[in-house]
Amino acid sequence: MFANKLAGRYACIGFAGVVRIGGILMEITGLIDEVRKQVKEWRRQGLTVGLVPTMGYLHEGHKSLIDRAVAENDRVVVSDFVNPIQFGVNEDLDAYPRDIEADKRLCRQAGADLIFHPEPEEMYAPDFSTYVEMQKVSEGLCGKTRPTHFKGVCTVVCKLFHIVMPDRAYFGQKDAQQLAVIRRMVRDLDMDIQIVGCPIIREADGLAKSSRNTYLNEEERRAALVLSRAVFHGEEMMKNGERDADTILSQMRKIIEAEPLARIDYVEMTDADSIKPLARAQGRVLTAMAVYIGTTRLIDNFIMEV
Ligand code: PAJ
Repeated sequence: MFANKLAGRYACIGFAGVVRIGGILMEITGLIDEVRKQVKEWRRQGLTVGLVPTMGYLHEGHKSLIDRAVAENDRVVVSDFVNPIQFGVNEDLDAYPRDIEADKRLCRQAGADLIFHPEPEEMYAPDFSTYVEMQKVSEGLCGKTRPTHFKGVCTVVCKLFHIVMPDRAYFGQKDAQQLAVIRRMVRDLDMDIQIVGCPIIREADGLAKSSRNTYLNEEERRAALVLSRAVFHGEEMMKNGERDADTILSQMRKIIEAEPLARIDYVEMTDADSIKPLARAQGRVLTAMAVYIGTTRLIDNFIMEV
């Protein structure tokens, strides 16, 4: 059994390890069984459990989710797993940045109790054959260019939910469609887990924090500011009472198209929950974009209730 954070005992099994800082213990394991054992022990003690699913290379955006989870739960599990099945064939699976040592430091400092860091083989048997596939909500926006992406996301998140069985799970609004997809999956499949959406964390100059920002060279990093500039402009227009989607989106597109290094994948307005396109802003409105800066695909958005 893992060492308990408060009891201060040390014990390691298999791949599991213990990291100690300032009297607080944090565990790391790559084994599903170890996670289950630990969570069962916490449950036996009557403790609540929060889960923060990530693909690692953690930054302040991830940390905001972990902070919130630590504040709202007795124990927090962070999963750190670059999920191969949510990447398309020509996407950046092999290039995706990884730094587990830095991730451990960030999780420890944020007060997480356990990192689940499995190898792909632990998650996917050679004859793995069961997937969670969603219609509609996963089909627009990112689903158009990445047709198998949300199938991979839903499947891995469903697995993580079954492994950890958390009371609450934390997701960023940075991936607004992903958040809508997860909420829909939890509702449709009767998963007894509260989904907590957290606001977008940005760099000082506006760029939404992302593990993929590391792909950008200096010139591209500067060019990438067109995303947040367009987001802020669209938000301002809507705050000032503009409701016509075409009017708002065409001005946002103009800002992005003025940047030679930028190529628009999509800039669209949809309902934030159903991801159905909107001609006029009404209800909980998601205005979202995906833009290539060089070869790097970045996303950004704003949600406004009107
Ligand atoms: P990843 O891209 O690592 O993101 C993990 C979580 O952090 C997501 O919920 C994402 O929305 C949130 N996040 C990332 N950048 C953020 C920012 N700037 N502000 C606020 N939140 C931010 O999303 C995934 O991993 C995967 O698809 C996953 C859900 C883990 C399934 O594999």
